[in-house]
Amino acid sequence: MKKFIAGILFISSFSLFAAPPVSSPDLIKKGEIVYKSNCIACHGPTGLGDGPLGKVLKPSPRNLVKDPFKQGTKPEEIFRTITKGISGTGMAGYAHLSEKDRWAIVYFILSIKNKK
Ligand code: HEC
Repeated sequence: MKKFIAGILFISSFSLFAAPPVSSPDLIKKGEIVYKSNCIACHGPTGLGDGPLGKVLKPSPRNLVKDPFKQGTKPEEIFRTITKGISGTGMAGYAHLSEKDRWAIVYFILSIKNKK
């Protein structure tokens, strides 16, 4: 019985923390589109944290290109940030976006990060 329960937990933890999909140019393109319709008001059109709505926020939105991320920059960490947000800040959770769209934004962000 114990083994059975452990098996169930093992399988369900797999579906909760599914491995990140492989990045591809198509996925990054899709991420850019989803980013543009959800995130630019604060993070700006090119991710520099200079969106018009962001100017009134404290803390201000992250410059996604240059700033370090306090919740981590591994794909699964950024995915978690997008899903849950950062409590007490203007950064809300975006769990209502489809999982695929959230992964797409993750790879879009990684594609613009640290570009000069
Ligand atoms: C209403 C304004 C607003 C919108 C819209 C917004 N964000 Fe943010 N975001 C913020 C703020 C403010 C912070 C900084 C929070 C802090 O300093 O703790 C932030 C931080 C972040 C970070 C950095 C997290 C870290 O670990 O430091 C990421 C990544 C991010 N946002 C992604 C997104 C994505 C992707 C979208 C669109 C789906 C989005 N944000 C939409 C305000 C916004």
